[in-house]
Amino acid sequence: MTLPAPHPDSTCLVTGASSGIGADIARELATRGHGLTLVARRLERLEALAEELREKHAVRVETIACDVTDAPARASLMSQVAAAGLRVDVLVNNAGFGSGGNFAELDGEAEVRMVRTNCEAVVALSHAVAGQMVAARSGAILNVASSAGFQPIPKQATYAATKAFALSFSEALSSELGEAGITVTALCPGPVRTEFVEVAAIDEAAEAAPGFLWISSEQCAKAAVEGLERGKRVVIPHAPVRMSTLAARYTPHSILLPLMRRFYPV
Ligand SMILES: NC(=O)c1ccc[n+]([C@@H]2O[C@H](COP(=O)([O-])OP(=O)(O)OC[C@H]3O[C@@H](n4cnc5c(N)ncnc54)[C@H](OP(=O)(O)O)[C@@H]3O)[C@@H](O)[C@H]2O)c1
Repeated sequence: MTLPAPHPDSTCLVTGASSGIGADIARELATRGHGLTLVARRLERLEALAEELREKHAVRVETIACDVTDAPARASLMSQVAAAGLRVDVLVNNAGFGSGGNFAELDGEAEVRMVRTNCEAVVALSHAVAGQMVAARSGAILNVASSAGFQPIPKQATYAATKAFALSFSEALSSELGEAGITVTALCPGPVRTEFVEVAAIDEAAEAAPGFLWISSEQCAKAAVEGLERGKRVVIPHAPVRMSTLAARYTPHSILLPLMRRFYPV
């Protein structure tokens, strides 16, 4: 139950590969000789990364523009992979975004779109590959959750809930699919330097988060792929974040919620 070996007929499909953690996970996989299918909405960014990976690592890379919240686009993505004669051996559900602020004042449509990106697409794409992986008795799924998934977070209510979903879903699947030799890993980083805080419009607030908690996207991706190789169920990069998730898991919510509300930087 580890990362399948590279094969000419197989691919690692990485969503959200146009930026941040997804792009660096693609780089980590390419250094190990894996062929890649890079997915996101910004095609030009995917093409630039594809060019880099082909040149540096001599691996096969395709790019597919896809909004993962769009069911017909997801179906077309899977058909394009199959039409290229490729089997998805590794699925990285990384596409996602957050928001911050009082729920009642946030854009309701964006909150719903977040659930569809961070939860619906994860379920749909996992389901699209699970049957084939079970039949092959091989495969690995990496779902990018977050340390935010270990506790409710006032002013990031929807985001924390979507990541709790991703974590719970991954852990259950790792038990189910593990019997068929498939690894399912939830990646739960704390703060990572990417475009995430700008997209979530929480960049000013994020500056208040203690510096020692932050890691680079490269460090996060390295921990993720090493965790996949070791068949880990949950990967929490960075020791201080592992400590904070322990506290979050074992503190009663009646105590935790007022503390989060007072001190969490949003
Ligand atoms: N940075 C952090 O502090 C942090 C911490 C814990 C967990 N995470 C999680 O890590 C994952 C990656 O985030 P990041 O930090 O690398 O942020 P990022 O730099 O903003 O990257 C987000 C990626 O998701 C893609 N994406 C967003 N919506 C999409 C959609 N509807 N369809 C297809 N692709 C979509 C974006 O591509 P396009 O815009 O080109 O579509 C982009 O490639 C997210 O799931 C995030 O929740 C981040």
